[in-house]
Amino acid sequence: MALNTIAAIVLTLFVTFNDVLAVTPSPGCGINQASGTVSHKTTVNGKQRLYITNVPTNYNSSSPHRLIFMFHGLGNSAAAVANGQQGFLPFMGLPPLANADSIGAISVAPDGLNSGWANSGGEDIAFVDQMIREIEASLCIDQNLRFSTGFSYGASMTYAIACARAKQFRGVAVVSGALLSGCTGKTDPIAYYGQHGTSDGTIPIASGKQLRDTFVALNGCTKQTTMDAAPGSGTLVKTQYQNCNKNFPVTWISFDGGHTSTPTTKGASKSFTPEESWAFFKQFT
Ligand SMILES: *[C@@H]1O[C@H](CO)[C@@H](O)[C@H](O)[C@H]1NC(C)=O
Repeated sequence: MALNTIAAIVLTLFVTFNDVLAVTPSPGCGINQASGTVSHKTTVNGKQRLYITNVPTNYNSSSPHRLIFMFHGLGNSAAAVANGQQGFLPFMGLPPLANADSIGAISVAPDGLNSGWANSGGEDIAFVDQMIREIEASLCIDQNLRFSTGFSYGASMTYAIACARAKQFRGVAVVSGALLSGCTGKTDPIAYYGQHGTSDGTIPIASGKQLRDTFVALNGCTKQTTMDAAPGSGTLVKTQYQNCNKNFPVTWISFDGGHTSTPTTKGASKSFTPEESWAFFKQFT
């Protein structure tokens, strides 16, 4: 093998490795910004769109942050997610956890057309691309640490992002989702967390498992049949898939409960969703 061929292979390996691990500061790093919650309007394919950002009080514009999108369910709104209404915790309960971490996070609640995420012709993915450009132009984000979560229709939108934008996002948390926003691409692995209630009467748990299994396969994990939490048990059953590509784990939680973004286990005063989804995201640095 020629020396330059070996050098090219070594360089390729190095670049591939670095793609995943290096901090890539966004253009907004170094620009001072006030903390707080702000609504933004933008136009995508001729339609006006809205999203709400939350910049933490301890925001440091020299330090690249995680960027976390949080998509609402059908009939909800960005405001419901931001304010913690209609069954949502404020920004899905993530800011207090993220802000206690040294990397920190910017939270984003986007607003769906007709209160949903039909993603017709990929227009909601185009909206995501535009939000990333706008947010990262003014805020300091590590471009290798973009995440998405969402509930119900918003979980389906998060799945659509996993399918179409696996290279732009580090990981997703799909909370009670189904195949409702499409799945173009489906070619690349992405770190995947899913949770679903065994008694979900709106979106059966089989739908959540179907989404999950797309990434069990793409991430190279060993397939397995997961246990469901028994109805009435007040428990959750958490499965870490084995033998996944180490950069792309899959975590799955089946819980005793229905269609909710804030399920609790028996005796718990708080939902496990924020801490479990945050534990999944924060492993990526
Ligand atoms: C802001 O972040 C930079 C880069 O990580 C760090 O050097 C600096 O000490 C931080 N400033 C404050 C006030 O924490």
